[in-house]
Amino acid sequence: MEGLIYFEDGVEIAKSGAAVVYLMNNELFLEIGPGHNLWALESEYSDYIEQLWDLPKGSCLEIGLGLGVASRCILSNPNVRSLTTIEKNKDVVSIQPQLTAILDDNTRASRWSYDHNKHKVLNCEGLIYLYETRRKYDFIFLDFYEAINEETLPAIRDMVKASEKVLSNNGCILCWFDKYTPDQYVEEFFALFETYLQPGHLDRKANGF
Ligand SMILES: C[S@@+](CC[C@H](N)C(=O)[O-])C[C@H]1O[C@@H](n2cnc3c(N)ncnc32)[C@H](O)[C@@H]1O
Repeated sequence: MEGLIYFEDGVEIAKSGAAVVYLMNNELFLEIGPGHNLWALESEYSDYIEQLWDLPKGSCLEIGLGLGVASRCILSNPNVRSLTTIEKNKDVVSIQPQLTAILDDNTRASRWSYDHNKHKVLNCEGLIYLYETRRKYDFIFLDFYEAINEETLPAIRDMVKASEKVLSNNGCILCWFDKYTPDQYVEEFFALFETYLQPGHLDRKANGF
């Protein structure tokens, strides 16, 4: 609702160290302090549905857990065998059990049913995991940045490059597209991973998903 601020008008429902989750208008907001740094919004679930589309399959890897909303979206796809999520912030990892019951509530708009046993969360820096793992993945989803701009594009490029090493044949890499990205960065952003998108996916990309 316009004019409302989640950390003033919402209710703090979970906290672990620097990570705090608020509930406002029946939606969750994750900030990682200090300074009310908003890192994830539950309301983005519809963007995840749109962007992930039919891409998740087989053995999946995700960099950046946040609220775990995208994880749920990936895991609800019947073609997904397993999902490993890498999250570098230990507070974000340890807050998850507090969120599970809330996010599993079947009255929530973002609720997806999925098998929890298919999900593994590791507290680790994404790049280090990518350099060290010997596993291969059929689908890799990168969502570890707050925005797409000149500061984050080099880090996204590095993460895509490192992901290529752990991608199986015919595997796919997708980076989260922030719809508020300034026009000047959009082309450079999509160029980082468009070789992994099939013609159908490229048509969607052309329309900003
Ligand atoms: C935008 S949020 C992810 C939102 C998430 N997709 C969701 O559904 O809520 C980004 C997350 O990536 C984590 N992160 C940032 N840099 C990272 C890195 N280099 N490796 C692993 N995790 C990282 C942050 O701590 C944060 O939890």
